[in-house]
Amino acid sequence: MKKILVTGGAGYIGSHTCVELLNAGREIIIIDNFSNSKPKTLDNIKKITNKDFKFYEGDYTNRETLEEIFKNNDIDAVINFAGYKAVGESVQKPLEYYINNVTGALTLLDVMKKYNVKKFIFSSSATIYGNPGTTKYVESMEIKRGTSPYGTTKSMIEIILDDLYKSDNTWNIVSLRYFNPVGAHSSGIIGEEPQGIPNNLMPYIQKVASGSLSELSVFGDDYDTPDGTGVRDYIHVVDLAKGHLLALNKLDTSDNGLYIYNLGTGTGYSVLDIVKTFEKVNNIKIPYKIVERRPGDLACYYADPTKAREELGFKTEKTLEDICRDSWNYQKNILNSD
Ligand code: WQD
Repeated sequence: MKKILVTGGAGYIGSHTCVELLNAGREIIIIDNFSNSKPKTLDNIKKITNKDFKFYEGDYTNRETLEEIFKNNDIDAVINFAGYKAVGESVQKPLEYYINNVTGALTLLDVMKKYNVKKFIFSSSATIYGNPGTTKYVESMEIKRGTSPYGTTKSMIEIILDDLYKSDNTWNIVSLRYFNPVGAHSSGIIGEEPQGIPNNLMPYIQKVASGSLSELSVFGDDYDTPDGTGVRDYIHVVDLAKGHLLALNKLDTSDNGLYIYNLGTGTGYSVLDIVKTFEKVNNIKIPYKIVERRPGDLACYYADPTKAREELGFKTEKTLEDICRDSWNYQKNILNSD
């Protein structure tokens, strides 16, 4: 059977997608350099699925490494998760982000072309909508320069894919624009484990819940939202992972094309909605203080999920309660295993 190459498959979203691919009977190959992931995740993917797979430890920006993989394996499609994703860090290190994310994608696509592998799924982000002046994002809205170098790498790669398809319509490409991925697999053995002090809301709440951070700083409560705090579209990572399986099915069954989909729930929740739900579901107090707005933050945005529903059959199943329960379940497992 032809295989699916998953770059960054040991990472947060990559590992959850590999679980769904293996459970669906797909054969996969993972390449990962462990720059933002751990080897134990590979064992945990095998433990969850009771399936095995080929793994290459390496950097997807390295052409020789990619050539070796494509020369020695019959690859049908590629899902590209590999890339740096810390918004704040990207402001400090723009060159590293452009080299890793953009040059990496270019190298990968060039090697795919050489080996005539033309099915490609790109891990994109709602950040490519920039600040469109509306709250409900739809795919037909134009791609903007990102609000950070990280976001701009995502916009640049989407533009590259657009030009690539226009030049050669034998490519078959899906860009998936993630909203806010959160949560963890119900097994509690794979999840998001950011290094150091988390930037994102849910990992930060998990650290406060575990006592390793004292309180949450809520970045502003004077936005034009129901309770004044920021509103986002939080999508459970297992729902997100299943969206990739549907995208792969789309590539298997559709004419060649360039397909773009939002992956979100279509519902926005505020920071305080998350805090209160996390406290209720897990019976844990999350101390917080209201501080200044974080520069660059928008008040409110969430997905219009219509196109993914109509064309992929994508519909999120997990609730905000599931997200909070699964996040804490994973955090407890990390605490117990460290
Ligand atoms: C969510 C809300 C904050 C932390 C980012 C990236 C985006 C995507 C998802 C990759 C906002 C508030 C947060 C905290 C807080 N990543 N907040 N205190 O900024 O919506 O999106 O992650 O594709 O590209 O930009 O996510 O979790 O950082 O913030 O009050 O300690 O929580 O103001 O309203 P964001 P986030």
